[in-house]
Amino acid sequence: MIKVAVCGALGKMGSEVVLAVTEAEGMEVAALIDIAATGQEINGVKFENNLESALKNTKVDVIVDFTQPKSVYENAITAINAGVKPVIGTTGLSDEQLAEIKKLSEEENTGVLIAPNFAIGAVLMMKFSQMAAKYFKNAEIIELHHNQKKDAPSGTAIKTAQLMASVQDNFANGNCAEVETIEGSRGGNFESNIRIHSVRMPGFVASQEVIFGANGETLKIRHDSIDRKCFMSGVVLSVRYIFENNNFIYGLENIL
Ligand SMILES: NC(=O)c1ccc[n+]([C@@H]2O[C@H](COP(=O)([O-])OP(=O)(O)OC[C@H]3O[C@@H](n4cnc5c(N)ncnc54)[C@H](O)[C@@H]3O)[C@@H](O)[C@H]2O)c1
Repeated sequence: MIKVAVCGALGKMGSEVVLAVTEAEGMEVAALIDIAATGQEINGVKFENNLESALKNTKVDVIVDFTQPKSVYENAITAINAGVKPVIGTTGLSDEQLAEIKKLSEEENTGVLIAPNFAIGAVLMMKFSQMAAKYFKNAEIIELHHNQKKDAPSGTAIKTAQLMASVQDNFANGNCAEVETIEGSRGGNFESNIRIHSVRMPGFVASQEVIFGANGETLKIRHDSIDRKCFMSGVVLSVRYIFENNNFIYGLENIL
C-alpha cells in the first residue's frame, strides 16, 4: 500500500487529490498538510500545519504538492531530505529551482515527478503543438485561467512554448516593427518570439489555445479543463510511477 501525503490538502486541487487517492487501488492518504488547517480531519487522518514535522511523525512514501508558487520549492527540498518522493503540480518553479531539485533528487537517489499539467488532453495539446511548430513559422499562445491563479503565464504555457522553441527559432516571421500604445498588449515575449497572453477571470478552470498562422490558413489547437477531476488520473499515475522509480521526471508525457 503506497502511503501518500497531500500538501495543500484544503485547496481546490489538494481536496480533489485526497478524494482520488482515497478511491485509487493500492494507495491511501497517510498525512494531510495545509498551512490553513485548523484541526480538521478526514477519515481519521488529522490535518497538520507543518510539513517537516508531519513527515517526521508519519511514514510516508510519496507526497503530492498543490500549494503555491512561493512555497513549492521549500516543500520539495523538505520532502527529499526526509526521503519522501514528491509529485509536484504546483506551478511557478524557476529554472534554477528545477535544476536544484533535480540535483538533490540525484544526490539522494529519491524520485521526483513535476508536471505543469496532469491532464492527459493537455499533454497531447502540447505534443500536437510541438508537431505543428515544425511546419508553421508564426504562432502565439493564449492561456485562460480562473482569477485566483497567482502565477502568469501558466506552467503549461511555458512548457508548450519550450517544446515549440525546441524545433523552431522564430515564430514571428514577417511581423512588422510593432508599437504598443498600451503596454503589454502584445503579451509576454518568450524564447523564439512566442507571444504568450494570460487571461484571468471567473468561469475558467484551465484552458489554452495555441494559434498557428501561415499564408491563407490558421490552425488552432485548444484544450479546456472544465473540471479539476481531469487532472486526477495523471496524479494517480504519477504516484504509482514515482513509488517504483528513483529518477527525476519533468512532464507527464515522459511516463505515458
Ligand atoms: N499541474 C497541474 O496539472 C495543475 C492543475 C491545476 C492547478 N495547478 C497549480 O496547483 C497550485 C494550487 O492550485 P489550487 O487551485 O489548488 O490553489 P488553492 O489556493 O485552492 O490551494 C492551495 C492550498 O495550499 C495551501 N498552502 C499554501 N502554502 C502552503 C504550504 N507552504 N504548506 C502547506 N499548504 C500550503 C493553502 O492554504 C491552500 O489550501 C497552483 O500553483 C496551480 O497553478 C497545477
